[in-house]
Amino acid sequence: YEPELIRNFCIIAHIDHGKSTLADRFIEKARLVSEREYKDQILDSMDIERERGITIKSQAVSLPFTSSDGKTYHLNLVDTPGHVDFSYEVSRAISACEGALLIIDASQGVEAQTLANMYMAIEHDLEILPVINKIDLPSADIEFVKKQIDHDLGLDMDIAIPISAKTGQGVDELLEALVQFVPPPKPLIDNPLQALIFDSHYDPYRGVVVHIRVMAGRIKLGQEVLFMATGGRYVIEETGVFRIGNEKREELRAGEVGYIIAGIKDIGKVRVGDTVTSARNGCTTPLPGFKEVKPVVFSSIYPVNSDDYEDLLSAIEKLKLNDASLIYEKDSSVALGFGFRCGFLGLLHLEVVQERLEREFDLSIVFTSPSVRYRVTLSNGEKLSIDNPLEFPDPSQIQHAEEPYIKATLITPAEYVGPIINLCLEKRGVQESMTYLDEKRVELVYSMPLAEVLFDFYDKLKSLSRGYASFDYEITDFRPTDLVRLDILINGNPVDALSQLVFRENAAYRARKVCKKLRDEIPRHQFKIPIQGAIGATIIARETISALRKDVTAKCYGGDISRKRKLLEKQKEGKKRMKMVGNVELPQNAFLSVLKAD
Ligand code: GTP
Repeated sequence: YEPELIRNFCIIAHIDHGKSTLADRFIEKARLVSEREYKDQILDSMDIERERGITIKSQAVSLPFTSSDGKTYHLNLVDTPGHVDFSYEVSRAISACEGALLIIDASQGVEAQTLANMYMAIEHDLEILPVINKIDLPSADIEFVKKQIDHDLGLDMDIAIPISAKTGQGVDELLEALVQFVPPPKPLIDNPLQALIFDSHYDPYRGVVVHIRVMAGRIKLGQEVLFMATGGRYVIEETGVFRIGNEKREELRAGEVGYIIAGIKDIGKVRVGDTVTSARNGCTTPLPGFKEVKPVVFSSIYPVNSDDYEDLLSAIEKLKLNDASLIYEKDSSVALGFGFRCGFLGLLHLEVVQERLEREFDLSIVFTSPSVRYRVTLSNGEKLSIDNPLEFPDPSQIQHAEEPYIKATLITPAEYVGPIINLCLEKRGVQESMTYLDEKRVELVYSMPLAEVLFDFYDKLKSLSRGYASFDYEITDFRPTDLVRLDILINGNPVDALSQLVFRENAAYRARKVCKKLRDEIPRHQFKIPIQGAIGATIIARETISALRKDVTAKCYGGDISRKRKLLEKQKEGKKRMKMVGNVELPQNAFLSVLKAD
């Protein structure tokens, strides 16, 4: 046990600045993985992560490194997820470390999440080593980024290490600097056990594998432990460190990073940020910073084909095994049948779940329009939390409603400031500050409703700034809002799955958009079909589909009867995938198109 040879560190960066690529170089350097076994981006193991190039779940790996001083150090890399939705996981991973490598893309410079992540690392007293990555790019501007490190970040630009995670240039120097710069963990081995849970994953054979950093004491095979926040008690069945797979050990000691397996079947019992201690003579106070993560974006999921309900249920249950932050409950809709109401950490989390259900489980699903959770106070004083339009009370009973607000931080090249300010205004944003970071870049801070970010905010921001603006947010508080339920009526019948909770002033615009889309998607019938948007009994938007029977056999003049029959059969087949609303057939596409922003 030589804690002075341990270095626990994480890599923090804005998305795409090269965190995963650098982690791969470290692993390669340590020759842990033979050329043959080596896969690109080994830490991002989920398929979607690899395809989208985004780290979603954090992972950890431990690697030996022999420094020029002749000593062999144990470098524990705690990988952190790169997206704003997962910032709580990032904060826990950070608090498992003594140091952080802050990566900055040499051609992009400092971005919104570079700052957000750095503040988080400073808050946890980490030593921060700036790293300038992608110096192999022709557009790399090392001197400019150094100035940003000094001016925007307030870090020492002279210690910054220029590297190319892609070619490996500078990576040796970086490892040397890391060993010198990041302090070893405190050797608190004689204190009572305190271990921080910073991640977990589910193994179908062993149950939940809990990722921990031992802050004090030791954790041994056979020991009975207590999870302080959830109150769970378990006996340690296996413990060890992360290599590329898991490597068993007898025990983990203060300062070490590794895993425990203790026959835990339910991932809901394992909360990131919880403290593990021994069941007998354990520590009295948990480690600071535990927080219950709460979903902020809600949507219902329905199978396109109602026969797939059971498959959808089992798919969601499987996803939940690895993703404690996904919550769901049964839901039903007149238009779409049985499904699930789900809560997500953010929009990206929602998208990831959607893609996994479609890809890994091969399901066709419909997501209803995402919603935030509103607080509603009724005239009789009763307080409700509402995220589902179907549960929205009668407006005459509502005393007032509140919606969640965020603090949004945007960093953009100066030439896009005008359009971005307009976008934020359109999204009900109130400017809190505008700072020129240097002559070319501006930081804007806005306070705005979370609900506005759910509808084509990212897309508009990206297109307005040609992809150059970056965005980060945190939820701040609830503020009064004028909330209404927008209903969509087809031929006079409300379609529950298309109802949305919206800010009153946005209702007409939203209604017009939905009606137009439906008009394009719903096939003509033998009768005229009005499509209406309504708040209560007031119609605020209307489109009409004129009457006409689409005769698929019209083109087969007389001729082959079997061909005619085939076409009619096909038409029938197509009808099965339609939903009936009153006497109108609604294709599934209609639901999807309405939910998509343009
Ligand atoms: P998240 O996981 O989403 O946080 O992204 P990341 O920071 O891990 O970025 P990743 O390592 O996936 O790299 C993003 C892109 O930059 C990839 O296409 C990499 O191939 C590329 N890249 C990373 N490092 C370098 C480098 O040193 N030089 C060049 N030219 N490209 C690089």
